[in-house]
Amino acid sequence: MSGRVHITNEKGLRILWLDHPPVNALSSDLRLGLLTAITDAASDDSVKALALIGKSDKFCAGADIKAFGGGPQHPRIPELAEALEGMGKPSVALIDGFALGGGLELALGCTARIATHRARIGLPEIEIGIFPSGGGLQRLPRLIEFNAALDLIISGRKIGAAEAAELGIVDLCVKPENLITTVHKVLARDDITCRLPVTSTSIADTPSNRDALENARKRFTRSGRILSSQQTILDRLEQSLGQPYAVEIKVDAEVSRALLQSPQSKALRHLFSAERKAGRSAEDLPAVDVPRTVGIAGGGTMGGGIALATAQAGIRVALFDPDEGARQRLKKRISAFRDGQLAKGRISATEGDAFVNRIAIVDTLEGLCNAELVIEAVIEDLSVKQALFTRLQDICALECVFASNTSYLDLDAMAATLSRPERLIGLHFFSPAEVMPLLEIVKGGLSSDWAFATGAAYSRKLGKRGVLMSACPGFAANRSRFPMMNEARLLLEDGASPVQVDRVFRTFGFPMGPFETNDLTGLDILVKGHAFIPAELRPGRQSELPFAMVDAGRIGQKANKGWYRYEEGNRKPIADPDLEQLLNAFREEKRIIPRKFSDEEVLQRCLYAAVNEAGRVVLEGVVTRPGDMDVIWVNGFGFPREKGGILHWSYGIGFAEIAEIIDRDFRPEDPARWPVCDFSSLGEIIGIVK
Ligand code: COA
Repeated sequence: MSGRVHITNEKGLRILWLDHPPVNALSSDLRLGLLTAITDAASDDSVKALALIGKSDKFCAGADIKAFGGGPQHPRIPELAEALEGMGKPSVALIDGFALGGGLELALGCTARIATHRARIGLPEIEIGIFPSGGGLQRLPRLIEFNAALDLIISGRKIGAAEAAELGIVDLCVKPENLITTVHKVLARDDITCRLPVTSTSIADTPSNRDALENARKRFTRSGRILSSQQTILDRLEQSLGQPYAVEIKVDAEVSRALLQSPQSKALRHLFSAERKAGRSAEDLPAVDVPRTVGIAGGGTMGGGIALATAQAGIRVALFDPDEGARQRLKKRISAFRDGQLAKGRISATEGDAFVNRIAIVDTLEGLCNAELVIEAVIEDLSVKQALFTRLQDICALECVFASNTSYLDLDAMAATLSRPERLIGLHFFSPAEVMPLLEIVKGGLSSDWAFATGAAYSRKLGKRGVLMSACPGFAANRSRFPMMNEARLLLEDGASPVQVDRVFRTFGFPMGPFETNDLTGLDILVKGHAFIPAELRPGRQSELPFAMVDAGRIGQKANKGWYRYEEGNRKPIADPDLEQLLNAFREEKRIIPRKFSDEEVLQRCLYAAVNEAGRVVLEGVVTRPGDMDVIWVNGFGFPREKGGILHWSYGIGFAEIAEIIDRDFRPEDPARWPVCDFSSLGEIIGIVK
């Protein structure tokens, strides 16, 4: 049986315990158990009131996502909420952990909601491409102010109990140990439990409601990005204005069934599961503790960002940089980060102080002696990193795990200089490390399971989208992106413009195109890093344009000119006629006769190059599952989430078609640049996983 209800009785209060590990998702068994228990309680005179609570300190994570696709089964969530409302007795939802989606919809059927301070509450259905059709869309705007309800539904934002209480979703916030005793007190007072059912009124059709919907539509039109589920939310709310609950809840159910079949919802649900699997190995890894203190060697952009991310997760940090100026800059960066979090209301002043105090900036490597994990973020030079780890092994405890944040260097060559090479792994962060969700957790040829598991535990604690993988040149992410960036630059060499290529990427759904990205990160950095990129990642014709750009001083935003020009103090890229001169001179020198490219060819050349390499990474077994590449592309490179990731998207197009286009249009010109990917085997693997 998947999920059941446990029943206890306390002085006229019947308590129904939701029990469906790990998150009390509303499986059909659990829903049936709840309906039976609610009906029993309604007809039992000894029951004066009902309380719903979740086992394991979690109320409920909503509808059972893993059972989606099996069609609707009686009873649906609205029937449960309606049964609660129809009991003629008070009912209270006791929310600890989280009440999300259907969990909140169930709680909205109760006459009152009491939450612990640590509870998270929300209707996150848009994250999986649907909308709160189990009553959330109808009930929340009837319970709280319309604008606030619209914001929560359309953003899928999860809020804390304090905000939920302010908005009127939660009636009381209490300590976890007081949840049940508080119900007795509330029932004795008989105040907040004497409410009318939320569904007793229709959503009032006031001008402010229409204005709010209109404003939301305008906002989405301006941004140019709206998910089908968000469009549906606006449409359904508009159609529901002034209409009775009983009619609209049925329409919601029908619309939701259709939305579940949409490519967007399928893509988002694929990512939901892929993101949870990516941080797990196919084999069982040993159980390890999360490191209590993390040492970081190197306080540059990366090292500082890793320190911020680590301290934010509540882990103590020892951050080493030998340079006094760098240490001063780090202090300022840490304070500025704390101030930013405070200003956004994400932390309290006390939490801000605790955050700053968790980071010790040290001026000797010996200052890292207490760390249980040390991450190096020094310059990309093998001998420097080898020397650093050799010194660290004399300073740190034997059990301390060492990790390199290298992008391209050989982990085994680094480990080989250690007396215990198995303690070293790769932890490849993306910049800015305190913001970017992706983390590559890399097992070198010499790394032990224990060191690898420590990397995975650390990543989970940081709340990163960790992807476990074995080492290969460039690791899975950069290796699969590198050919795409090369194709984009070759397109320019051959006649396309940055404006065209970037427009194609944006239209596809990337937040910015490859050239806008280059200008942001700096072409000087790109050219400097080029020396470290292994030869295996540079087969066939490679664009030399970045070198010509740097020679001409066009290094990006910081020089106000790169692939675009920029006005002082403004980051908006402006097409630059001067670039045309540089491109023409470059083409003449290389004897390239420029030609025009259709937008379709731009997209295919760039993205199929990435698909080709991502497929090879999967087939070589670098990552465990094809979905891991999707997690990487969505969380590391801004691939549009609603398309499900590079392999989910391309599988939908058809690998046979992609292979044919590569064979016919791209490979013949430069076979080395388009190494063969066995698309039919890749298709078989994905077919089995799906
Ligand atoms: N239905 C089915 N399974 C669910 C689920 C749901 N609504 N929510 C979470 N799970 C599963 C996860 O898939 C994972 O299963 P796995 O171990 O087999 O991979 C497990 O519960 C733990 O989830 P995870 O996300 O790893 O745990 P967490 O503690 O980090 O986060 C939640 C817990 C509930 C906050 C998070 O899982 C979440 O946001 N879930 C989705 C909630 C939602 O969208 N509800 C509306 C559904 S329409």
